[in-house]
Amino acid sequence: MSRITVDGVTKRFGDTVALDDVSFEVPQGEFVIVLGVSGSGKSTLLRCMNALETPTDGEIRVGDEPVNSPRNDIAMIFQQHNIIDQMTAYSNALTGSLNRNTFLDSLLQRQGEADKLQALEALDTVGLLDEAQQSAKRMSGGQQQRVGIARALVQDPTILLADEPVASLDPGSSQQVMGYLRTAARKRDLTAVISLHQVNLARKFGERFIGLRDGRKVFDGYRDEFDMDVIDEIYGDIDTEGMFAPDSDRDGDDGSIDDASSKPVSGGGMGQ
Ligand SMILES: Nc1ncnc2c1ncn2[C@@H]1O[C@H](COP(=O)(O)OP(=O)(O)OP(=O)(O)O)[C@@H](O)[C@H]1O
Ligand SMILES: [Mg+2]
Repeated sequence: MSRITVDGVTKRFGDTVALDDVSFEVPQGEFVIVLGVSGSGKSTLLRCMNALETPTDGEIRVGDEPVNSPRNDIAMIFQQHNIIDQMTAYSNALTGSLNRNTFLDSLLQRQGEADKLQALEALDTVGLLDEAQQSAKRMSGGQQQRVGIARALVQDPTILLADEPVASLDPGSSQQVMGYLRTAARKRDLTAVISLHQVNLARKFGERFIGLRDGRKVFDGYRDEFDMDVIDEIYGDIDTEGMFAPDSDRDGDDGSIDDASSKPVSGGGMGQ
């Protein structure tokens, strides 16, 4: 059961209220994008969901179980992909099985055949099977982030959290990485919660959207409701121009949602 519930979560850091009574529930298999300006609480929310932070009030649950410590069934992907430069893509992916093996097993590559197969399958899912033996340090930022996704998949989670996974990538690589993330989630029926700051990318890949502003949830809805008024509500007076990533690759087989409502929001700084 991989429904994840955020129930009345408040997180304070001293006088700062990073999250203010945030509640929502994500059913199994849903792909949710969290949006909000810098400081709105996106990272804090994801960190609470993975028990990297403890809410001041409220509770996170997976199914009916409170999340009080990091769990193997919740994988987290970070902006800085945290992969090991000196290792190959394959070895990096295989470290996702660390939860099932000792660190020494992992270093000595003593994992079982099933784990090795999973690492190769995960690399295949992110389009890197041919690069399995490539050293991570020779890979592009986008490829490294795809290795990070592969590693998260090898953990064999049911819930995938990602905190601005494409923030350090160029627009083309960002689309590609989001596409692989979306495809992987769909293939494995993962519950996914991803924070992003590019509105167009969010619209292209998101199924449901949660908007945070000053730690409060100001929007929670699906594609048909996620319009310019909502974007104004989330971003307020902030100029959203830079948040509209150029939208070059729209061939429909890139993992995006290829229905009529996936058209990019107009009015932003496209084509700059
Ligand atoms: N460990 C911490 N100690 C003190 N304050 C913190 C800590 N972590 C976050 N905050 C504060 O909580 C608020 C929310 O921060 P958070 O990092 O969750 O925002 P964010 O939406 O992820 O921003 P960004 O887009 O810049 O990553 C901010 O005011 C931030 O300064
Ligand atoms: Mg953040």
